[in-house]
Amino acid sequence: MEFIDDPEVMADWAKERRRGVGSVALVPTMGALHDGHLALIKLARMHADEVVVSLFVNPTQFGEATDFTHYPRRLEQDLMQCQALGVDVLFAPSADRVYREDRSTWVDEEQLSRGLCGEARPGHFRGVCTIVLKLLNWVQPDVAVFGEKDGQQLRIIERMVRDLNIPVEILRAETVRELDGLAMSSRNERLSEEARLDAVVIYESILAAKERVEQGERSAEVLIQVVLDRLACVPRIVIDYAVVVDDVTLKPIDWIHSTALLAIAVKVESVRLIDNAVLRID
Ligand code: PAJ
Repeated sequence: MEFIDDPEVMADWAKERRRGVGSVALVPTMGALHDGHLALIKLARMHADEVVVSLFVNPTQFGEATDFTHYPRRLEQDLMQCQALGVDVLFAPSADRVYREDRSTWVDEEQLSRGLCGEARPGHFRGVCTIVLKLLNWVQPDVAVFGEKDGQQLRIIERMVRDLNIPVEILRAETVRELDGLAMSSRNERLSEEARLDAVVIYESILAAKERVEQGERSAEVLIQVVLDRLACVPRIVIDYAVVVDDVTLKPIDWIHSTALLAIAVKVESVRLIDNAVLRID
């Protein structure tokens, strides 16, 4: 496995590869890899000859400086995991090589970014879109893999690729969960033992809503109440949002006609956790 920390070296590598016949997949991450990330890498492996994993804790997508500084970093371990999975290149640029001091250009998606996490984290998706476009430009992949765990981010990236005609195919990877159902996240390790147990209620509330959909419920209001009632079983959980939105526009809906997205964000002991599920009516 090659380790590249210089974006220009990465771009040269990509230019070289594009002269050959092989295909390249990119898996963008912020490191502290867990099984969710590894599933993305495995999916990438199935769709391309060469797999590039990028690892960059992107400062422009963090609102609070403390969240950025507390973000777990363990390059050694990440490196070993990538090597074990047969990753071809680990691209870990340093911040001073990624952003110029006098930068003045951003990518701002203006519709899907406004609600849900965009409301609580202004500027977050602008930071995400900008770094993802920069990574795509350096690596020039044929496919790039993103997780459904971050449902809003995934849809925003797909919109950006569509709107800006970026020549890459976006692959969706299913959410990987702990045995008790909690969606894997680098943030989970910041939870105390007690809060970790509390956090299980997030997925339980999703399952409760899904069950009601299977039983024929179509009202968004009723389904949201099912989620809120379940979350209320754990008083220490602070709800940021629990919504049923259109799967494409991410706008709130009253009634599920075909496909909707149930999205939840909560805080447990000041750690922000998100989860979601597509509600599909066959
Ligand atoms: P990060 O949180 O490291 O996540 C990297 C990728 O892993 C994202 O596509 C995310 O959706 C996916 N992922 C995380 N947890 C997952 C899980 N439990 N199951 C499946 N996929 C999961 O998301 C980011 O980094 C950044 O915003 C990034 C896109 C790299 C831009 O900086």
